[in-house]
Formats: sequence, structure tokens, C-alpha cells
Amino acid sequence: MGLQLDLQLAGAGSLKTVTRKQAEEVSRAHQKLTGRNRGNWKKYLGWLDWPSEYVDSDEFKRIESTALEICEDTDIFIVIGIGGSYLGARAVIEFVHSQFYNFERRTMERDGKQYTLPEIWFSGNTLSPSSIAYLKKRCQGKRVSIDVISKSGSTTEPAIAFRVFRELLGEQYGEAEAKKRIYVTTEDGDKELRKLTRTEGYTTFDVPKDIGGRYSVLTPVGLLPIAVGGVDIRKLITGAAQAQAAYAEPDLAQNDCYRYALARNLLYRSRKKLELFAAYEPDFTMMCEWLKQLFGESEGKKRKGIFPASVIYSTDLHSMGQYVQQGERSLFETVITFKEAKDNITIQADADNVDGLNFLAGRTLEEINQYAYLGTLIAHKDGGVPNIQLQLERMDEENLGWLLYFFEKACAISGCLLGVNPFDQPGVEAYKKNMFALLGKPGAEHEARGAALRERLGELGYL
Ligand code: PA5
Repeated sequence: MGLQLDLQLAGAGSLKTVTRKQAEEVSRAHQKLTGRNRGNWKKYLGWLDWPSEYVDSDEFKRIESTALEICEDTDIFIVIGIGGSYLGARAVIEFVHSQFYNFERRTMERDGKQYTLPEIWFSGNTLSPSSIAYLKKRCQGKRVSIDVISKSGSTTEPAIAFRVFRELLGEQYGEAEAKKRIYVTTEDGDKELRKLTRTEGYTTFDVPKDIGGRYSVLTPVGLLPIAVGGVDIRKLITGAAQAQAAYAEPDLAQNDCYRYALARNLLYRSRKKLELFAAYEPDFTMMCEWLKQLFGESEGKKRKGIFPASVIYSTDLHSMGQYVQQGERSLFETVITFKEAKDNITIQADADNVDGLNFLAGRTLEEINQYAYLGTLIAHKDGGVPNIQLQLERMDEENLGWLLYFFEKACAISGCLLGVNPFDQPGVEAYKKNMFALLGKPGAEHEARGAALRERLGELGYL
């Protein structure tokens, strides 16, 4: 198990010579996360030691047993949440199983017993009516359970989806049975969702106060849906705990997580403003979404930050490939590859060789994909795109746990190097304030803002 970092082709981020000043900056960032001077930030840092501490907890065991109960009585499991409250779970399920998870009926064995895994659908991450309407229709005649996830307990998108599916469960099962099919993951406190949970008696899991949404995949936020999806959460968190131990090392030269953070920061300082996460595996697509949220929401502040984007190759070599090869030279790539593919296919010889592909006969798709990677690597180097390469052993739970922790910690260190708080997201409020004001949410502040906005939109011809 483990992750290899290769900075050989990383241009300004290759760390061939690390100055004393750069090493000190990383050391200060390390201190800020782990030392006595972490001050204000302590309230965000619960995720740092979480994997090793959580795995033996009673709550962890309760997640495992609840997941089995859900598998026993559920055909469709709806996970309601947005941002950090859904991306991690979806990314892990698709990474370990497949992006086609919902198209195949999988089973899992636990303690000698077979379970059929439910379909898992993610809702509450959009206001699209067609998306929710589709899911409502899909639930007809099926045994449905829902997991509502919101740390704050007051986010609009999941709250709306929850209302819709709560009603659906009520119609389908009656009030008492519907309540048994609702699972809630939220922070303790007095926000709407928590209050409702208390009055209705839903099965509830806590989001730790000191872990923010995008760092929460290894808490009940991610773990309950992930376990329902038949992923071994014990292996996942064990992999993360091993990464936690490996990346606790303060010495930059010994810590690949810190080296990656410094490399991307040096690339940014050399005017490479965009990090393109690239993988040659479509099952990594949702991991890319998780990465974009992690880095985008953590670093995009004070008018600075690397813009995270993603591609899946070789698919996107036929769409974004042209830009990457010859467009504006403001990007670098972080390529994630896997030593072993999950599956493989061998190309057979064809008697007539009508497509001219017999030169590939006997070779596997894994090998061909590998050459696509190596060919692209050199082409992009020649095109002036610095490349950070990360190679994971396998696409399994333990390796993924390791990778998740690697990126979380690298992101926190990167934020420190950039001089921003990587744990808050004040900018997300701006659209919400405007939307509530325009929708006529009660309250003096919303009303005043609504009037001003309507006037501006009217002048622009939009209202
Ligand atoms: O990373 C974050 O903090 C955000 O993306 C949140 O996860 C997202 O806004 C959802 O918030 P909540 O879980 O409070 O509904």
C-alpha cells in the first residue's frame, strides 16, 4: 500500500533545490496545524488525528451495524446532502466499485451472511426539478430509505430534497414506518434539522464540531453511505490512519504530503495558476469532483488561490487535450495513476486485421492505457506543462483511505503556505443571501436586500 510522488517533471515545483526559507515556511505550516500556536484553528482540526482515534469507537461500530440493517430492508438509498456532505461518499463508492454502481446489483458478505446492496442515489445537491422528479419516479414500488446529511442543518438544497422525500416516505409507509427509514447526520445544536431529529426520533449520527464539510468523508457523513454501498469502511479508515502516521513527519524531505503542497505552491508562484487533476480511470471522476471542492473551497480566498480543474484521460485528450498541449501556459497537471487496474481485457487477434490493430493482439487494455499515459506525459512536458505524478498501488479501500488523507493534509498545508484559512468558506454565503432575498424569505434584512436586488435586476432587464 502507499503513494509514490514523482516531481521529476514538475518544473518550478520539482524541489531540486529547496531553499531554507521554503523549508521554514513548510515548518511553520506544520506548526500551525500541529503545534502549540495553532490557536484559533484548533476548532477546525478534528480531522487530523481522526482516522486512528475513530476506528475503535462505538459510533464506528454503530455505523457498520446500521448499514447492514439498511441493506436488509432497502432497495433505494437516497443520500441527501451538498458539497462536503455528499461528494466524498459518492467518490469513494465509485472509486472502489464503479461509476456504474447503480446499474448492477451487487452483494456483500458480512459475518457469513449475504446482503444485496441497494441502489444509492444522491439528491439535495441541486435545485434541478427534473433531477428530483426522476428520483421520485424511480422510487415507485421500491423499498426506500434516506440519509439526510447537513453539518449546519440549515442548508437550503438538502432541506428542500428532504421535504420532498420525507413526504414520499410518509405516503408510501405511513408516519411511523417512514420515521424508521430516515437517518440523519448533523451537528449537535439547535439548527432546524437537529430540532426535527429530536422531535421525530430519527436515527442520528453526529458531525464532529471541529471537522468541516470537505474534511468529513471519514466521519459518519461519508462512512454511513459508503458502508451501505458495501465498501469496507474499516479498511478505508485503516488506510487513512496509516497515512496519518506517515505524514505526521515534520521533516519536509521525508514527507511527500508536504513536498506536494510545496511543489504546487511554487508552481503557483511561478504563475501556474491552474491545477489540472488528471486520471486515466473514469471511476476517478467523482474523486476529481471531491478534489476540486477540497482545494477550491479551501484556497480560493483573498483574491488568490490555484484554480482546480479536472480531466479524465484519454477521454478528455479528445476535448481538453488541445488546450493542455498548446493553450495558455498557465496550468500544471497532477496526474493520479494506479499500479494495478481493477480489471483487464486482452485484445484478440483478428484473422483479417481489417482495422489494422493486430499489432495490439495479446496486449491488455491496462498496458495500452499505460502507454497513453506515458505518451501524454512526454507530449505535455514538451508542450510546457509541469507534471506532478502520484501513483497509488491499487484501487481498493486501504489505498483510497491513504489518498484521501494525503490530499486533506496537503490541502491544509497548501492553504497555510498561501496565507489563507483553508477551513472556512465565507464566500459561499453571497449567493445564498441574494437567493433568499429574491425568494422573499421573511426577515427585515432579506426584504431590504430583495428590494435592492430586484431594482438592479430590473435595470439589467432580467426581471
Ligand atoms: O465543505 C464545506 O464546508 C461545504 O461544502 C459544505 O459541506 C456544504 O456547504 C454543505 O453544508 P452543510 O453540511 O452544512 O449542509
